[in-house]
Amino acid sequence: MHTRENFGSKLGAILAAAGSAVGLGNVWRFPIITGQNGGAAFIIIYIACILLLGLPIMISEFLIGRHTHSNTAGAYRILSNGNAWKWVGRLGVFTGWFILCYYAVVGGWTIHYTYLSAVNAFKDVEASEYGNIFEGFVSNPYLPVLWLFLFMGISHVVITRGVQSGIEKFSKIMMPTLFIIVILLVVCSVMLPGAEKGIKFILVPDFSKVTSGVVLQAMGQAFFSLSLGMGCLCTYASYFEKSTPLAKTALNVSVIDTLIAIMAGFIIFPSIFNIGMNPDEVGMGASLTFISLPNVFQKAFGDGSLVACIFSVMFYFLLFVAALTSSISLHEVATAYVSEEFNVTRRVGASIVTIVVLVLGTLCALSFGPLSGVTLFDKNIFTLFDEFSGTFLLPISGMLIAIFAGWALDRQLYRDEISNHGELKAPYFKLLIISLRYVTPVAVGIVFLDNLGVFDYFK
Ligand code: PHE
Repeated sequence: MHTRENFGSKLGAILAAAGSAVGLGNVWRFPIITGQNGGAAFIIIYIACILLLGLPIMISEFLIGRHTHSNTAGAYRILSNGNAWKWVGRLGVFTGWFILCYYAVVGGWTIHYTYLSAVNAFKDVEASEYGNIFEGFVSNPYLPVLWLFLFMGISHVVITRGVQSGIEKFSKIMMPTLFIIVILLVVCSVMLPGAEKGIKFILVPDFSKVTSGVVLQAMGQAFFSLSLGMGCLCTYASYFEKSTPLAKTALNVSVIDTLIAIMAGFIIFPSIFNIGMNPDEVGMGASLTFISLPNVFQKAFGDGSLVACIFSVMFYFLLFVAALTSSISLHEVATAYVSEEFNVTRRVGASIVTIVVLVLGTLCALSFGPLSGVTLFDKNIFTLFDEFSGTFLLPISGMLIAIFAGWALDRQLYRDEISNHGELKAPYFKLLIISLRYVTPVAVGIVFLDNLGVFDYFK
């Protein structure tokens, strides 16, 4: 039997969960989809998705983890008394582990770009060259693998140190660091001439852009950004103390996640508008982050200047920290699973997880270079990992969690847990159950069908 650790403080628990939520999604997807889909109008819809769908699932994941004090697979096994619902937990663990394999590759890329920024490698580079720099790097047979190993090595060390002296301590250092960097970058950005255009781009509401597709995007983004559906929050909550207020913690984590996402927009758009670029040209995800932005930052802050260099280093370091704390939460899901379900020590469990991620991650890392010929439906290994998890695993897992929590979980148990056995008031209890029973499964089901392209037939 394992002796289980707890987080030492409520703040530690919030920061660890926020570390999971604040990740690449906040920086490389949220600002751009907000800008393109109606600015503040999108933000309002996004917040509604968080309140109506995200929070109920987050609270349920917290509750399932804390009540059982077990890894995600164990938690669902215990609560389902061994019936088929136990598979929901296993699916969550599998999803998290799977996502880590490609997420850690991108984590490695952020190290490379921090390094390139630090040695001022972007000085005097032509705008058209940035694409080649990125492609040259990701197709290199060694470098992306090297950085992947370094990234996973850091995550491994944190995980093997345990819950309090590893995850919690690390979150307590890294999350405040991340907040400070975000604030510094925002301050630098909004001082640029023309910054108001960038701020307007994400803040001025334009309801005419809101279509059903936009709502679906907001739901998908809320889901990914809050780290729902893959056992991260359930696993972290299994280390919560009995007195941790679940709903309040979930609200805190969601507020932090949303604020950082909005502030990421204040970092990115002022410089894009400053150099007269059109946000439609900058792309999203990897191409935004590794091709457009290095150029944008050089041009906005003075090519090769010290300010551009420092700004760029801070930005990629920010991405690195955000990716690392998210990866650690994924790493922990699988580590807790392996060590508890197969009764091995934490060190052995973490090592097994790390080795699997290094092997599969290497395949992802090489899929733009030596392995670019290995494709299925015209997609390379990296893209397959990314799309399979985002399109299939995540929504299915999220929907099943909601159905499980709404329909299968004992109502009294639910009420006892969210009220900390009567200590806290939970006036939102009925609403939560309605959301879990009806709203979330239907909404997530629609996102899932949309991801599959079902609605395209009706267009
Ligand atoms: N929430 C993280 C982000 O916004 C991604 C993530 C997903 C992290 C799943 C952990 C688990 O990028």
